[in-house]
Amino acid sequence: MIKISNLSKSFSGQTVLDHLNLDIQKGEVVALIGSSGAGKSTFLRSLNYLETPDSGSIQIDDFKVDFSQITQEEILTLRRKLSMVFQQFNLFERRTALDNVKEGLVVVKKLSDEEATKIAKEELAKVGLSDREQHYPRHLSGGQKQRVAIARALAMKPDVLLLDEPTSALDPELVGEVEKSIADAARSGQTMILVSHDMSFVAQVADKVLFLDKGKIIESGTPDEIINHPKEERTKEFFASYKRSYI
Ligand SMILES: Nc1ncnc2c1ncn2[C@@H]1O[C@H](COP(=O)(O)OP(=O)(O)O)[C@@H](O)[C@H]1O
Ligand SMILES: [Mg+2]
Repeated sequence: MIKISNLSKSFSGQTVLDHLNLDIQKGEVVALIGSSGAGKSTFLRSLNYLETPDSGSIQIDDFKVDFSQITQEEILTLRRKLSMVFQQFNLFERRTALDNVKEGLVVVKKLSDEEATKIAKEELAKVGLSDREQHYPRHLSGGQKQRVAIARALAMKPDVLLLDEPTSALDPELVGEVEKSIADAARSGQTMILVSHDMSFVAQVADKVLFLDKGKIIESGTPDEIINHPKEERTKEFFASYKRSYI
């Protein structure tokens, strides 16, 4: 079980995360939605300390850290427990798909080359890329690169997979293959926090949806409750403008 308490972050006086609290059960898929600038990326980035929160704590099973007095060792442990998939793939351009997936296993988990290769091949197979192991990122499509990034994140067996708009940089025809890889991971019991603007995908994979506005969780519930029957005025406004721009 994951417990995030009282998470706050401001950038030069502007409050971006405002005392956020969130409990996540093992195997749960939580979708975070909200307008641009709501604080969604800052929230994910704060969890594994890519941003430095001003206050708050995170507990993952028995591992608990207070962000205001986190140690270097705790940062490394935290990053081992939370893997992130970014909008822009973030692969090493000079390494093959297989070596990209192996990297964390060798460097962070200190596995032998043989063990790392075995796991990396399995994860690439799960995202349908066995035939692309030796390809460099420049010879992969955007969808394939993002699937390598997902395989790399999952290879670390994270307690929580963090996905920040994983399909929004892709051409529309490549979105489906990446969403399938995410849905497969969700079905296999991977706990995740997904930031997405794709409401049909959110409705398909999420157990719980949180609507974030100005750094606060305004409303949370099942996908049907939040997407089809929002109660709060700001959530209703968000969906009204969402429908204007996407439909
Ligand atoms: N490194 C930064 N320095 C200053 N302001 C930032 C930084 N990162 C994000 N912000 C600001 O924090 C707010 C939330 O940004 P972000 O978390 O990226 O929102 P979202 O992902 O929901 O679009 C925005 O107003 C943004 O300009
Ligand atoms: Mg963002």
